[in-house]
Amino acid sequence: MSKNQLSDYFDELNDDTDTESPRKRITQKRESKKREQEAKLFIRAQEIAKEFQFTYKAARFEEAWLLDSLTEIHEHQWISDVLRKVKGGKEASVYLCKAGAEMSVPFVAAKIYRPRSLRNLKNDAQYRVGRVDLDADGTALWKEADKNAIAKRTSYGEEVRHRSWIAYEFKTMERLFEAGADVPRPYAMEKNAIVMDFVGDENTAASILNSVNLSHTEARTLRDRVLHNMDIMLANECIHGDLSAYNILYWNGEIKLIDFPQIVLPRSNPTAWNIFLRDVVRVCDYFSSQGVNCDAYKIAADLWAKYGYRIGKQLDPKHLDPENPEDRKAWEKR
Ligand SMILES: Nc1ncnc2c1ncn2[C@@H]1O[C@H](COP(=O)(O)OP(=O)(O)OP(=O)(O)O)[C@@H](O)[C@H]1O
Ligand SMILES: [Mg+2]
Repeated sequence: MSKNQLSDYFDELNDDTDTESPRKRITQKRESKKREQEAKLFIRAQEIAKEFQFTYKAARFEEAWLLDSLTEIHEHQWISDVLRKVKGGKEASVYLCKAGAEMSVPFVAAKIYRPRSLRNLKNDAQYRVGRVDLDADGTALWKEADKNAIAKRTSYGEEVRHRSWIAYEFKTMERLFEAGADVPRPYAMEKNAIVMDFVGDENTAASILNSVNLSHTEARTLRDRVLHNMDIMLANECIHGDLSAYNILYWNGEIKLIDFPQIVLPRSNPTAWNIFLRDVVRVCDYFSSQGVNCDAYKIAADLWAKYGYRIGKQLDPKHLDPENPEDRKAWEKR
């Protein structure tokens, strides 16, 4: 049985949509198919578990999914143990892991994308405009067959598309880390998992900034730090696309930006300016709540102008032009 099939089993076993919809009642036939799949899943999981046992007490299906997702990462000695789940997010769950012999840090975070959510990526179209899709190694897809499969949305194409989504997160983190941005250091990407620096310590994970109350001085310092990071991102031709105080971690007075699969390319995505402005507005909303003044539109327009990005109204009348005062007025009245 291939690894992808194992993920498929995990999806199907956790698919409770049928029980919610009376029109899609689970038939007896489907029930017995499920039992058959369940049996195969656990045989496979038991095989893997002989070589890799971890401390974290996962639920049955979660354990099988973790084993499936982390086996290669464990074999490469990037992790030696899964200690606990840090958080289950919308698209992925993040685990605190003990680092393996190949690593020079004691702990790492493993972000593991869920098979089910991977099949239901919503609204990814607006972010993917102007991006080439990437393969599992993070290099641009070159096989016409892969590109066609994505365009036709075959199940193989969906698989390739989701791998590209994860590869964008990993490659972006690599690029930004090298450029000096405050992001967890990324170490490895395998299948549906990314291994990166764990922000926090053995006992406590970093808080999301949104849940932290800052002193006025610290708020000003961190606002400037976040804007500095947004500047680095623009300099590296990317926009976060989902930035807010929910995707910024706070630990010991320092911040780390996280969650990059949806990054947007400012030169080739016609809605880039609007997405960038939305990121700045959300960041400013948080810092305003901490008593620090932020003129989001001005900050965004100045940064945008610094890099000479042009895409705006001229390409799509629905979108604002950062250099047009009328557009600013319209935006303020929104
Ligand atoms: N490197 C890390 N170190 C410590 N905790 C982390 C790390 N990366 C992520 N987390 C925790 O896991 C949560 C989910 O991570 P992330 O935002 O990347 O995934 P997501 O699936 O997009 O989640 P969400 O839907 O909540 O945004 C974060 O809010 C944070 O609490
Ligand atoms: Mg997130």
